[in-house]
Amino acid sequence: MSVEKLKSDLEKVLKKAFESIQKSENSEEIEKARILYLGKKSQINSLMKSLSNLDSQQKAEFGKYLNEAKAKLTSFLEDKKLSISSKVKTINDNFDFSMPGRNSSIGSLHPITKIMDYSIEIFEDLKFECVEGPEIEDDFHNFTALNIPESHPARAMHDTFYFEDGYLLRTHTSSVQIRAMREKNLPIRVIAPGKVYRKDSDITHTPMFHQIEGLYIDTNVSFSNLKSIINTFLKKFFENDDLKIRFRPSYFPFTEPSAEVDIEYINSRGEKSWLEILGCGMVHPNVLKMAKIDPSIHSGYAFGLGVERLAMLKLEISDLRLFYENDLRFLEQFKRAKL
Ligand code: PHE
Repeated sequence: MSVEKLKSDLEKVLKKAFESIQKSENSEEIEKARILYLGKKSQINSLMKSLSNLDSQQKAEFGKYLNEAKAKLTSFLEDKKLSISSKVKTINDNFDFSMPGRNSSIGSLHPITKIMDYSIEIFEDLKFECVEGPEIEDDFHNFTALNIPESHPARAMHDTFYFEDGYLLRTHTSSVQIRAMREKNLPIRVIAPGKVYRKDSDITHTPMFHQIEGLYIDTNVSFSNLKSIINTFLKKFFENDDLKIRFRPSYFPFTEPSAEVDIEYINSRGEKSWLEILGCGMVHPNVLKMAKIDPSIHSGYAFGLGVERLAMLKLEISDLRLFYENDLRFLEQFKRAKL
């Protein structure tokens, strides 16, 4: 008998064997297939026996072929057995495939992040572009370019964290105004949200807090434009058209005239009270000049909003430090707050 004939007989058997193992659905069926194709009386076994009739070269050739085929078939059968028995096991364990999955608790955005995002959306609707600047700032952008030269007493208004190499943690987002003026073409209409740092801590101050800076520079920008944008923003933010807003004259070295803005709210004793939430003003001509903008052609307004203050009022929270203690019982209250 030729090796070729033996090989083709073997192929036919193998084909049937793989098919019937593949089709087996339980351990009885798989055992039947095993006996039929790999058992003592199987065709493969009789092919094994026929090896003795071959000469040594043919024996070596077909023997190797046969052994490999048997090994493949055996491992296929073992795999199939395993997959059947693991199915049986899970069914035996009373696994209920229709059971709903375990609830995994999903985190949520921090209330301050929500307030920031909500404010940014309102400003974007008012056609402001959102930009960012670094929290580790240099003296020039945080002070000098904002008309606060060295030895200017206004530097003492900022309780600054300094690094040894002359850098500092920005004390306000006004530093981003300078970057925007130096990098962008006119007209400029940007907001710059972000973290700021001051050495300060009590119920209305934390050493890190958030501001949103606003800057608009164009020809003919006036204080009434500033008032109007602040009023529009605050009324939208608090969803209250009758919101009481008060502009108080104030002083910032980088704006002239300057104002602080308070809004009326009901305090914890149930009395009407005012809370300061932002500083603003018309960009000082010195600041424009330092940014190579001609103050005889262009003018602008700027404002810096205290995000935590807005959050305290919007979410009715009396102690600002709660925002940063990360007590989940506190934070979870705002999980579903619609902002
Ligand atoms: N940078 C000021 C502060 O942090 C706020 C401000 C911004 C005032 C822009 C005027 C104009 O208090």
